[in-house]
Amino acid sequence: MSTEPDVVVVTGAGGMGLAVARRLGGGRTVLLADAFPDTLDRAVDALRAEGYTAKGQVTDVSDAPSVVKLAEAAAGAGRLTAVVHTAGVSAATSTVRKIMEVDLLGTAHVIDAFEQVATRGTAVVCVASMAGHVARLTEEQEQALATAPAAELLDLDVVRDARDGEPVMAYILAKRANHVRVQAAALAYNRRGARINTVSPGVIATPMARAEQDSASGDHMLATLEACGIGRPGTPGELAEVVAFLTGPGSLYLTGTDVLLDGGQAGWLRWHRPR
Ligand SMILES: NC(=O)c1ccc[n+]([C@@H]2O[C@H](COP(=O)([O-])OP(=O)(O)OC[C@H]3O[C@@H](n4cnc5c(N)ncnc54)[C@H](O)[C@@H]3O)[C@@H](O)[C@H]2O)c1
Repeated sequence: MSTEPDVVVVTGAGGMGLAVARRLGGGRTVLLADAFPDTLDRAVDALRAEGYTAKGQVTDVSDAPSVVKLAEAAAGAGRLTAVVHTAGVSAATSTVRKIMEVDLLGTAHVIDAFEQVATRGTAVVCVASMAGHVARLTEEQEQALATAPAAELLDLDVVRDARDGEPVMAYILAKRANHVRVQAAALAYNRRGARINTVSPGVIATPMARAEQDSASGDHMLATLEACGIGRPGTPGELAEVVAFLTGPGSLYLTGTDVLLDGGQAGWLRWHRPR
């Protein structure tokens, strides 16, 4: 019997990352990654105080070598069971450039780096967003976003064209790119006996959602939650529960797809929003 520890990698030590680490990390080695050392140290300390075996590795997901180092550290630490990519930025508090570098390119780096170390049974989940479901891109644009080498992503026409637009449009584009890139990556993961999916949250009550609530789009966000009938944000625990399913034994036939976790917001926006 193998004595190797089971390893769970979580990128992003924010609201979702911590909830996922707590839900998946019991009895396993948690390798937590964040670009900000203070945030990372606080999260690792909190997990250790609760009895988890947690390690931190400072990682900037927008930097490919940094993500490769994380993947190598994970592979060296034991049997890679789950990788959950929650590191990201929001449209309410970031520039277009930052959104493209972190949410679009960073996710591509995670998909590529962990494909190289994925083994039989590894399950990857990338956190995209409900915003990706409101994107309206052409087939050619989606083809490019799904399959262009990561190093070429920021030079695609569809990405360049978004440079002078609003951050929210860049965010919608980046999150749709996450969907299609993960879908396209399922083949390579299948060949290694591994799986990869996205989860698309609507509003989950984390520091990011609180910052958005306080921003110019905050009222719109709250109004949508009311209008769609759910009347509340999701909790980090509800997000972690879906991730547990997507990385667990109940979803072995589920790969290359997206789970929309938005309390019905996308459905309201598409079919019921007054025009
Ligand atoms: N909270 C929501 O309502 C919501 C809704 C839809 C999608 N999302 C997405 O969910 C993901 C997680 O969001 P959250 O709510 O936990 O946010 P959060 O702000 O609580 O946590 C995000 C973490 O990512 C880290 N980070 C930022 N840039 C990084 C980089 N370049 N490299 C490594 N780490 C970096 C931050 O330091 C932070 O700790 C993000 O991709 C976000 O876009 C969030």
